[in-house]
Amino acid sequence: MNFLILHGPNLNLLGLREPAIYGADTLESINRSLRELARELGGEVSILQSNHEGVLVDAIQGALGSVDGILINPAAYTHTSVAIRDAVAAVGLPTVEVHLSNIHQREEFRHRSYLAPVAAGQICGFGPESYLLGLRALFTLGKKRLSEGGGCGT
Ligand code: DQA
Repeated sequence: MNFLILHGPNLNLLGLREPAIYGADTLESINRSLRELARELGGEVSILQSNHEGVLVDAIQGALGSVDGILINPAAYTHTSVAIRDAVAAVGLPTVEVHLSNIHQREEFRHRSYLAPVAAGQICGFGPESYLLGLRALFTLGKKRLSEGGGCGT
């Protein structure tokens, strides 16, 4: 199985960025753990970080027919982007939303996720572990789809 992992704006600054909230791990080390876990579970991941909404939308559209699901931390776009939500709804791939911090314990504007209603689920508050839990969830969803006769983008 092959999954697309998307990181939204400012996540390239992990390690430097508000470490009291987001921790000391860099994006590179999170990506390394994700690649290792994917290998362990017998799959592969393609990873992209972008600070641009349209680039993320293009990546979601491009995932159709080529991957079995999407793991995404839309970062600030979680709370603003109808375009990312519509792209996820349009491709219909199993999508798991993750956040390092617990967005529900933070400022009120972070409580709302435009993506959550069209995602298979949301995992937040566990730091880098949120991503690993999310990837495991995608593998479980992917296996279920395969056993039901579905597959890449079907
Ligand atoms: C975040 C939470 C968002 O509210 C914030 O804008 C981010 C990171 C997280 O992973 O905790 O950039 O998605």
